[in-house]
Amino acid sequence: MSVVDHNLVRIFDTTLRDGEQSPGATLSSAEKLEIARQLAQLGVDIIEAGFPAASPDDLAAVQRVASEVGTQNGPIIAGLARAVEKDILTCWEGVKLAAKPRIHTFLGTSDIHLKYQTGITREKALEVIRQSVTLARSLCEDVEFSPMDAGRTDPKFLIEVCAIAVECGATTLNIPDTVGYVMPQEWGELIANLIAETPGAGPGSNVIWSVHCHNDLGLATANTLAGVVAGARQVEVTINGIGERAGNTSLEEAVMAIQTRPQFYKLRTNINTREIMKTSRMVSNYTGMHVQPNKAIVGANAFAHEAGIHQDGMLKNSSTYEIMTPETVGVTQSKLVLGKHSGRHALKVRLQELGYNIEGDALNQVFARFKDLADSKKTVTDADLQALIADEFHGPEEIFTLEDIQVVCGTMGMPTATVKMRNAEGETVIHAAVGVGPVDACYRAVDGVVKAPNTLIEYSVHSVTEGISALGEVTVRIEAPGGARSFGGYGADSDIIVASVKAYLAALNRMVAAMGIGRAPEGEAATVNVSGEKATE
Ligand code: KIV
Ligand code: ZN
Repeated sequence: MSVVDHNLVRIFDTTLRDGEQSPGATLSSAEKLEIARQLAQLGVDIIEAGFPAASPDDLAAVQRVASEVGTQNGPIIAGLARAVEKDILTCWEGVKLAAKPRIHTFLGTSDIHLKYQTGITREKALEVIRQSVTLARSLCEDVEFSPMDAGRTDPKFLIEVCAIAVECGATTLNIPDTVGYVMPQEWGELIANLIAETPGAGPGSNVIWSVHCHNDLGLATANTLAGVVAGARQVEVTINGIGERAGNTSLEEAVMAIQTRPQFYKLRTNINTREIMKTSRMVSNYTGMHVQPNKAIVGANAFAHEAGIHQDGMLKNSSTYEIMTPETVGVTQSKLVLGKHSGRHALKVRLQELGYNIEGDALNQVFARFKDLADSKKTVTDADLQALIADEFHGPEEIFTLEDIQVVCGTMGMPTATVKMRNAEGETVIHAAVGVGPVDACYRAVDGVVKAPNTLIEYSVHSVTEGISALGEVTVRIEAPGGARSFGGYGADSDIIVASVKAYLAALNRMVAAMGIGRAPEGEAATVNVSGEKATE
């Protein structure tokens, strides 16, 4: 008899794995840990913490999440592994410290993937699945198998694949629409058919069926929900829908659809929806991936009513134009308004309410930034505080640091920037440059110090709240030479030029840390100043 709770849709969050595969969304190990803690707070059932075999850093990050977040009452911690022995063994090294570990192994099963990616026959694929699921199951009781590119796999072969995975001990069968190709109705039919036809994995079994959809045609959420209607009881999602190419299904959209339409779905999730907004902001700030204003649930305009007729209806009764309240997803107006008269204690309490336990020197640091902001801005909102925390405490290892910056611009003369920075060797370097505008001049000046060739592929600036004195947030994305990899950076400051430089430097530091580009060779300091002289202190 099945012991599976069929009324529960399990939320498998892959922000730290598929989400981190978004171009430029690289996260440091400390950032991953903090996001994982917040995902646990949000109530996700499974955290896919990474791809341990990808690099020693990935393995270490998964191990940290497993041991610190994967407690008995915490979520299952999963790691991804290709269907090869080395990956599966490394994955186990990553997740085994969790109280509830899971190995998630996968193999491409569409003819396109078999022919062009692995170069193996269908028969060989079945053998590889048999070996890898058996190995994974010998290490871990909880094993998930994904036939990658299932959306373009021959449905009959897919049944054979799933049957072998179950026979060898897979406890979750995850069906990915890897390239976001399938239509919702087709997808629902495919999932229903797999559940009905796969030997050993029918509705009476203990196998959990899962869906993993990509958003290439903007259908990820629709497909995921069609999968749920067809019987899937796990959905693989990311915060803000970040992920490969056009992204994955967004957690907040799938969860809020199930919660907002109880008569339709008659299902539940374990998500504490009031934590959604905070998690969304954290992921956006740490990855440098800005949320579009019209994004469902978490966009800045998701609960804004502009048209007169809508405003009129809202004033009479909010149900006229709102299908869920902003409070349900954690968009709240703080009862405690912080301003320039607020003290350290009020700030500490508010930060605690937001989930940040900050004490001692760190609190002093935030308090100083808070006071500066409160001097120029009447009230400091939760979003301002979250931006300050992200700016102050998160980001890559600081190889190059900004000390001071001065910019001259306007209608007369050339925009000119002078930066004073500390380089990797701890020396102070001053460099000046002219540019077509103040940001360009600053970036050229920074380039003069860091010497890491790159292409700026994205630059965006927006204010955290309304008003001329608002804190400015800047996100940038740069591409390493040859376009092989891209890196993101985030900066927040009430001066947008300073925020711009912080964001650029964060992206450069990530690139230097990952690829070594721009580090001065041993014994040779990269110190240049405007006159070409060494400017060490
Ligand atoms: O999109 C995909 O197919 C994946 C698998 C590894 C599950 O991310
Ligand atoms: Zn994916």
